[in-house]
Amino acid sequence: MTKIKNICCIGAGYVGGPTMAVIAHKCPDVKVTIVDLNAERIAAWNDEDVNNIPIYEPGLAEVVASARGRNLFFSTDVEKAIDEAEMIFISVNTPTKTYGVGKGMAADLKYIELCARQIASVAKNDKIVVEKSTLPVRTAEAIKNILDNTGNGAKFQILSNPEFLAEGTAVEDLLNPDRVLIGGDNDEDGQKAIKSLVDIYANWIPEERILTTNVWSSELSKLTANAFLAQRVSSINAMSELCEKTGADVNEVARAIGMDSRIGSKFLKASVGFGGSCFQKDILNLVYIAKSYGLNEVADYWEQVVIMNDHQKKRFATNIVRTLYNTVSGKKIAFLGWAFKKDTNDTRESAAIYIADALLYEQANIAVYDPKVEKETIYKDLDYLESRESAQNKKGVVVFENSYEACKDAHAIAVLTEWDEFRTYDWQKIYDHMKKPAFVFDGRNILDGEKLRKIGFVFQEIGK
Ligand code: NAD
Ligand code: UDX
Repeated sequence: MTKIKNICCIGAGYVGGPTMAVIAHKCPDVKVTIVDLNAERIAAWNDEDVNNIPIYEPGLAEVVASARGRNLFFSTDVEKAIDEAEMIFISVNTPTKTYGVGKGMAADLKYIELCARQIASVAKNDKIVVEKSTLPVRTAEAIKNILDNTGNGAKFQILSNPEFLAEGTAVEDLLNPDRVLIGGDNDEDGQKAIKSLVDIYANWIPEERILTTNVWSSELSKLTANAFLAQRVSSINAMSELCEKTGADVNEVARAIGMDSRIGSKFLKASVGFGGSCFQKDILNLVYIAKSYGLNEVADYWEQVVIMNDHQKKRFATNIVRTLYNTVSGKKIAFLGWAFKKDTNDTRESAAIYIADALLYEQANIAVYDPKVEKETIYKDLDYLESRESAQNKKGVVVFENSYEACKDAHAIAVLTEWDEFRTYDWQKIYDHMKKPAFVFDGRNILDGEKLRKIGFVFQEIGK
């Protein structure tokens, strides 16, 4: 078995950064170097003020501060880090393809392939290569093929070690995971490689929570976990629409079914729709894989989860327009929240982007406040949709640093992220400075409807 002394992680993003910071924090004898092509991102990770690291996650700055400069390093020198490491994690992005075969569905593996080629060309001795990115089942085969055919004779073991952290709770999830999953080959070398990685995690995770499987099960388990989680959200969101028609209350329904231990109470919060970089991408990837094996019923079954989610976002926007007397043209709509969930500055696939886009089509003036998201990110998110000229997005959307200013003179407020601070606002003060009738559309069911209605708001929430 190889005793790991040097780890390299390619990709200093939402997964690579926190995951490796926690490994370095818990394994002071292991040198962990996180590398990335994005020099700006690496500079931010190295910022003297640890509060300026590029990812906001509760507790992350403290973990980074504990290890940075001791056994945790951030660098753009990818080759040096590969050369020094016995174990290399690949944690690069695997977005949905935007071109060619599989466009809009399949995972784009070009960054993965680039990593494999670079590892092969640099490696002078044997390495364990760990798939940390979420990958289609059987990707390890392609990685192995590239490594074996383009290398300099060094031997490679490929492990799959998918990451289950959720953003906003990444540090807690990493310190205390439900399970760690490691897939590897069944032969002696494969088992030795698995053991090397188990030993890293065993520094802080009880061994019974470290699960080992074959590579394909591990790769597919990650896509399956995300599909099941997203399916729960789409299922409760589907019921939310039925609740609105029938007088049932989706929170009461969720509570009632969640008390059944076979169903469980987590992940049953009705919302404006799930966002984030993973759910949609991974389900579309699963759908694509199923189709590629000719499993059309399997593909259709899972695709419905995404279709339902798109419907939920669309109907939220449509309801705003309808309720505001069928026109929002020239009206100020304040958005509370832009991130895809609370406690993160990540906005990828956030429902807010799509609600904003739909309302911009209706010529609304949108005022955004989010406690952690930068103004530039909001404009970048909108420009990425290519729905209109960048100048038009800038004209239609104004970003505020103060939530009360964002809501001043608004016709309506849409709550799009469940940030805790929204609950504690002085809603009377907000009401006093809004146009009347003052509408609130709570896309997260976090506000006290009774209190807001008493103040005078026309208050609507999901599934009630
Ligand atoms: P990210 O975009 O935040 O980070 C990826 C980083 O990889 C970027 O900084 C990019 O510059 C870098 N990169 C790309 N190609 C490179 C190369 N050849 N050499 C060096 N650096 C390179 O992505 P992320 O959110 O960290 O996700 C990474 C993977 O983890 C994805 O496969 C994703 O599906 C998976 N995942 C994400 C989450 C999550 O919550 N974000 C959770 C579990 C799994
Ligand atoms: C998800 C998985 O949870 C995690 O295990 C995986 O590693 C990456 O993908 P993440 O996307 O970071 O994590 O956040 P998650 O908490 O799963 O939320 C995803 C989206 O679903 C968010 O927009 C969230 O607001 C929404 N959601 C979640 C709901 O609308 N209702 C719920 O009950 C739960």
